[in-house]
Amino acid sequence: MEYNSSNFLLETIVPSEELIVSRTDLKGNITYVNDTFAEISGYEANELIGNPHSIVRHPDMPKAIFSDLWKELETKGKWSGYVKNLRKDQGYYWVYAEISEVHKDGKLVEYKSIRTPMSFEKKVEYQVKYDQLKLTSGELIRHVSYTEYKK
Ligand SMILES: Cc1cc2nc3c(=O)[nH]c(=O)nc-3n(C[C@H](O)[C@H](O)[C@H](O)COP(=O)(O)O)c2cc1C
Repeated sequence: MEYNSSNFLLETIVPSEELIVSRTDLKGNITYVNDTFAEISGYEANELIGNPHSIVRHPDMPKAIFSDLWKELETKGKWSGYVKNLRKDQGYYWVYAEISEVHKDGKLVEYKSIRTPMSFEKKVEYQVKYDQLKLTSGELIRHVSYTEYKK
């Protein structure tokens, strides 16, 4: 049997007893990930560090969510929300993410993010919400098709 695509759209479930942690510079380039982040995203830590955090951006995420994120970080110094992320193998994982500032000697030096799991109901709610947001803002939305298996 053959697949016409190498994308296995499987969900990785975030364990409830572990936190997914990353830090970025002020432009959003990854400076640190914990082991759980690497494991859940399917990357080695050294493949993530130095890259923009958008390396795990999932195409289902509406642009507006990230423009709000950066606006709120600049004005309030923190942001929290629900995010669908893309794994290296093209699978995905949902998280509730909290981002905040890291200060050193009174100066803003980095941002850090701590992520925890979401309930099944929240994932469904946010998938629908984000699809609608993408449709109303004219962004492309996901289309999954299954080709018939012919003997
Ligand atoms: C600390 C921190 C953590 C972030 N975590 C994520 C994340 O897990 N997934 C994601 O898609 N974007 C995350 N972002 C936002 C990205 O920097 C980026 O804005 C987003 O992926 C959209 O990509 P784009 O700005 O290139 O369109 C994070 C930003 C910061 C500052």
